[in-house]
Amino acid sequence: MIFPNERASELNASRAGTVPLGDLTINRLGFGAMRLSTNGMRGPSRDPEVGRAVLRHAVELGVNHIDTAAFYHSQDGSVRANTLIREALSPYPPDLVIATKVGPVFGQSGPVQGTAADLRALVEDNLKALGLERLDLVYLRIGMMEPPHGESLAERFEVLAALREEGLIRHLGLSNVDTTHLAEARAIAPVVAVQNHFHIAKRDDVAVLDACAENGIAFAPFFPLGGGWSDLNDPRLVRVAARHDASVSQIALAWLLALSPVTLAIPGTGSLVHLEENIAAGSITLTPEDLADLDSTGAALR
Ligand SMILES: NC(=O)c1ccc[n+]([C@@H]2O[C@H](COP(=O)([O-])OP(=O)(O)OC[C@H]3O[C@@H](n4cnc5c(N)ncnc54)[C@H](OP(=O)(O)O)[C@@H]3O)[C@@H](O)[C@H]2O)c1
Repeated sequence: MIFPNERASELNASRAGTVPLGDLTINRLGFGAMRLSTNGMRGPSRDPEVGRAVLRHAVELGVNHIDTAAFYHSQDGSVRANTLIREALSPYPPDLVIATKVGPVFGQSGPVQGTAADLRALVEDNLKALGLERLDLVYLRIGMMEPPHGESLAERFEVLAALREEGLIRHLGLSNVDTTHLAEARAIAPVVAVQNHFHIAKRDDVAVLDACAENGIAFAPFFPLGGGWSDLNDPRLVRVAARHDASVSQIALAWLLALSPVTLAIPGTGSLVHLEENIAAGSITLTPEDLADLDSTGAALR
């Protein structure tokens, strides 16, 4: 299957360029695994065979970075992103960088923040499910929907730093943080990536993006397509999409890639067609006119 447009020959994630993650280098267009098991969190199962096919095709299309978590699974727990990744891709290609995140623990009434004492078991759970001896990148994910301003992450990050020293983790990242959290963590151990809620219709996190850019830290927006809920059908977005014979989703991804050399797109999908469409976005070069149009879709672009 190849997405039916003239960009078929350009379908490779490498077209988006690369970004460093510590001593690793990955394509700036990766893959988010949250939509493989269910379309969201804790919903009905999606077909695991399709999920494995999406993962294999992503790698065929040059994806060398997959973002996952042990808590990405269907409501009944029968389909799990980490299991699909291992089944589809292990033994892993040598250049594949799998990132996971730890922090939340899930009880009967939903997610709560885990404590420092929970983190080793959460890291070991990811190692086991993915069939790895060392995790390439582990994000400490804190708070609920908004960064928990004023809350210290030091105790939790020190545990992950110790697990890194022990050799269970190669690199550390942070998710759902502000610039104070970033500075606090960097005083403990190197941070190679930040993953925050950010997309073309939600751009209020430029301070964190700027701090990442200044320090050579990758910035991986979560919900890069608005999580499938945001209205990407803004007329200015539609106009730019028409100019490129592209979809609004593709323009939303191209905009993230144009925003900064450190942005790392991790669109999530359980669909082969959407996968190809998203990878094709890495070949779209937005013009100054496009960027000016997109500036006016929300807060100033840059
Ligand atoms: N750190 C965190 O707290 C956090 C939170 C959320 C997500 N994440 C990570 O970020 C990744 C990306 O976020 P996300 O997957 O939640 O949201 P997203 O990438 O913004 O959007 C995914 C949604 O858009 C749909 N979609 C994907 N490609 C499309 C296309 N080309 N055209 C139309 N619809 C399309 C998907 O449905 P189909 O599957 O049907 O294509 C799905 O419903 C996740 O996979 C996960 O790895 C992290």
